[in-house]
Amino acid sequence: MNRKYRKTIIAGNWKMNKTLSETKAFAEELKPVLGKHKWCEVVLCVPFVNIPAAVRLFKDTRVAIGAENLHFEDHGAFTGEVSANMLKEVGVKYVIIGHSERREYYNETDFTVNKKVKAALEAGLHPIVCVGESLEQRELGVTSELITYQVKCALAGLDAAQARKIVIAYEPLWAIGTGKTATAEQAGEVCQTIRSIIRKEFGARVARAVTIQYGGSMNAKNAAELLAQPDVDGGLIGGAALKVPDFLQIINAANQE
Ligand code: 13P
Repeated sequence: MNRKYRKTIIAGNWKMNKTLSETKAFAEELKPVLGKHKWCEVVLCVPFVNIPAAVRLFKDTRVAIGAENLHFEDHGAFTGEVSANMLKEVGVKYVIIGHSERREYYNETDFTVNKKVKAALEAGLHPIVCVGESLEQRELGVTSELITYQVKCALAGLDAAQARKIVIAYEPLWAIGTGKTATAEQAGEVCQTIRSIIRKEFGARVARAVTIQYGGSMNAKNAAELLAQPDVDGGLIGGAALKVPDFLQIINAANQE
């Protein structure tokens, strides 16, 4: 973390978990114990149907609500899809784009990621762009090349003012939902690579200001060590964001004085 230059963001990605009543129960459990979390922004990315309720439930707090996906078109004949404007109007602040599960199961590509990033920015949302390598790619020694390609594609065509608004989440595929976390050094190294790509593309000021998260089996036990890396500015958390005590411990790790 480097709190002087950029925001630390602890974001939960609920994926396809929690009904409306479970969302309410989570909010009721979290709110009284949350505290001020003055050093980090807390975000909950929830299933589309739970967004309006989540916005209402957290409206008297500093917890921001995010979506887990969006369509890049404004409106039209795209059955089952949701646009950036729709999300903005119901109070969404962040939107996850290009999560590896979407890339793997729903044909998300680096090109659709770029279109979605532009659509989100246009509507005034902050994209959380996910990048990450598979185990095979890491073993082949192409992690850095792959991450460079993914980041450059995602941010292609943006100006510096737009690039500043992006959050990048480094999520190695082999660490997602596996209980196998990247070491703090591995996470720190790739996050540093991401910052240097942004520096080359948009300059030092933008690179210094962009929040880069780590995601992949981040939990109450390993969060502090990961967040101690200078280029790891927060976490995108799956499983551990479904339980209040676990999520709270990660938030607290980001708030250590
Ligand atoms: P887990 O924390 O469950 O490994 O999930 C990480 C993730 O995919 C967050 O987007």
